[in-house]
Amino acid sequence: MSDTPYDDHFVSWFRAVTPYINAFRGKTFVIAFGGKAIASEFIKTLAYDVNLLASLGIRLVLVHGARPQIEEELREKNIESKYHRGYRVTDAATLDCVLDAVGSVYLEIEALLSQGLPNTPMANSRIRVIGGNFITGQPIGVLDGIDMVYAGKVRKVDAEGINAQLGLGNIVLLNCEGPSPTGEIFNLQMEEVAEAVAVGLRADKLVYLTDSPGVSDQSGELLDAMTADEASQLLRDADWLSSDIVRYLPCAVRASRSAVGRVHLIGYAQDGALLRELFTHDGVGTVVTRESLENIREAKPDDIAALIALIEPMEQEGILVHRPRELLERELDRFSIMLHDGIIVGCAALYPHAGDEAELACLAVNPDHREWGYGEQLMKRIEQRARKAGIKRLFVLTTRTEHWFVERGFRLGTVDDLPAGKKEMYNYQRRSKVLFKTL
Ligand SMILES: CC(C)(COP(=O)(O)OP(=O)(O)OC[C@H]1O[C@@H](n2cnc3c(N)ncnc32)[C@H](O)[C@@H]1OP(=O)(O)O)[C@@H](O)C(=O)NCCC(=O)NCCS
Repeated sequence: MSDTPYDDHFVSWFRAVTPYINAFRGKTFVIAFGGKAIASEFIKTLAYDVNLLASLGIRLVLVHGARPQIEEELREKNIESKYHRGYRVTDAATLDCVLDAVGSVYLEIEALLSQGLPNTPMANSRIRVIGGNFITGQPIGVLDGIDMVYAGKVRKVDAEGINAQLGLGNIVLLNCEGPSPTGEIFNLQMEEVAEAVAVGLRADKLVYLTDSPGVSDQSGELLDAMTADEASQLLRDADWLSSDIVRYLPCAVRASRSAVGRVHLIGYAQDGALLRELFTHDGVGTVVTRESLENIREAKPDDIAALIALIEPMEQEGILVHRPRELLERELDRFSIMLHDGIIVGCAALYPHAGDEAELACLAVNPDHREWGYGEQLMKRIEQRARKAGIKRLFVLTTRTEHWFVERGFRLGTVDDLPAGKKEMYNYQRRSKVLFKTL
């Protein structure tokens, strides 16, 4: 059989995914989705994708809601649906509807994950789905004079119990019901359960599937990444966010400030969004991370000594090109720096060239602070600055870090692809690799 472009694409795509597969094996992800996602046409393919993640050795906790399904139950029984401060006022009759709706949604998801038809991606899968009393609820009580009755909050997460199940390779499926030691059941918010579980497990990722593709700014442009501080600022100002984002983003902010590595908000209505977000560098939704904006900023004249102390050892090792100090001082405004506890631990610079091309230069992170994601944050900062300046293509010259850049969307090119000015300056002894990224 001859190779077709499709085959080539398949092979290069599969290879590109390998680093993620290795990175994610044994990691804990909490994936949360509301009743709207379950009612959508994409729930079946979502189940396929969850199955795939489980097959790759990712420890998965799923948390589901059932809001529209509860509404339907209430409608059928002619019970008014009442909310106060975002919580459902849950009297005994409402609680019955909640239990019915949540119970059937739970079984629906269990059934979806139990499929194994030969002509589907579920063929040969043997997922064990486990539920249980891992969440303890407590009453919210009386809010502004309104008795919330069985509306509850998470009191405790049995992280040990969940971890034991994950250790056996099981998927843990949780819902928004929280039994309490008094024998009552409380109606919890799905997003709060997911947050509490992710924090309790110190999950590597918490993913919310939402009714919009992610978090967007006022002009409707999707924000691919934001810090917890930026997200909480946005929540204060934004009246354009979708209802799911308004509910989930505060949980994302708290979780990312606590113990959760990254919180992703992605649209359930895009087939394969979960896979695209997790297995491609740029993703398709919004990721919220802990680091506050203050940790990354443009360099100021006072930073020069610390900047030199950071890059000098790497210049001496020949990893970075030596920059004369007076040049560095003059070009300081090209640098962005990363601070950790107020100390400069990383830097990167943007050097515009003729036309709409620019160089990402001098990306460096102090060896004691590597592998904390600082390098990537600096790269993203430079990309952001470049986009703002109308740059269409970034290039980087590196002797030792080719793969790092390739894994982050750069492609290997040749010296001839460089802008003329830079080509003339190319040091043929150094023989740096030249990589490009279209923004
Ligand atoms: C490249 C550099 C900036 C990365 O900084 P960092 O803060 O550690 O980067 P991140 O935390 O975002 O990424 C770390 C990941 O990159 C990987 N990585 C580090 N160096 C790498 C390299 N040379 N090639 C491929 N991958 C590399 C790490 O193993 C880690 O992988 P993991 O996430 O799977 O654990 C840092 O290693 C450095 O300062 N290197 C010396 C300077 C340099 O070479 N600069 C580039 C030329 S301008």
